[in-house]
Amino acid sequence: MAAFFKGRRIDLIISLKDFCEMSDEMSDETSESYYDWFEPLYAQANGDATQVPWSLPTATAYLTHWLSKNKVQGAGRSAVVVGCGLGDDAEALAAAGFVVTAFDVSPSAVAWAQERFPKSSVNYTVADVFQLPDDWLAAFDLVFDFRTIQALPLSVRTDVITQIASLVKPGGIVLIATYARESEGAFEGPPWPLSAQELAQFESYGLVAVVKETLHNAESRFADRILIQYQAPL
Ligand SMILES: C[S@@+](CC[C@H](N)C(=O)[O-])C[C@H]1O[C@@H](n2cnc3c(N)ncnc32)[C@H](O)[C@@H]1O
Repeated sequence: MAAFFKGRRIDLIISLKDFCEMSDEMSDETSESYYDWFEPLYAQANGDATQVPWSLPTATAYLTHWLSKNKVQGAGRSAVVVGCGLGDDAEALAAAGFVVTAFDVSPSAVAWAQERFPKSSVNYTVADVFQLPDDWLAAFDLVFDFRTIQALPLSVRTDVITQIASLVKPGGIVLIATYARESEGAFEGPPWPLSAQELAQFESYGLVAVVKETLHNAESRFADRILIQYQAPL
């Protein structure tokens, strides 16, 4: 995968088509190479969100519906957003009252989020999900991931799920919104939707799936999207 990225570093404002067509050339490599891809993409977008293939104009509806439907009150509780990108989901959690830490491996993404929300209470910070600070372990009441696990290849799936699960406090919540795939076998990504067995890995850490909603979008290449709320044991 490193070789794959090297060839593209110079001209790295890629289109969504490029993103979808990147294939299993990437799948047998380690996560480190990803820094070499996400960071230049954000840096070279130079403040133009249309150059970031996954950017959305607002927080994802998966999160905002979950917050409103459950009348979630974040006051006095902490939340962490994994792979926060441009920050909209972190801001939605802050607006719900959470004390929010939002991290991304890309310094340019983090700087951009800070620039977009200069008065934000969110602690935007650069961090790698594979090298989490020790004091983040079991530290958060709510852990939210939207589209970061699926952006990383199957070769690191076990690791990334382990790392994300490690962030939640006893009694806390892990909320995952992701594309889903039916088969357990290899998949030509990116993205790499999650399988049932992969999602079950969260339960191997004692987390219990208390809500699972599947949404179907027949018009998409990734027809099934899942929102899962896991509860951590006390
Ligand atoms: C597909 S984007 C999704 C961004 C955001 N969650 C959203 O849905 O708009 C995946 C994000 O994960 C970040 N990322 C990739 N590898 C990471 C890692 N090892 N640690 C932390 N963030 C990472 C990327 O920089 C990127 O912002």
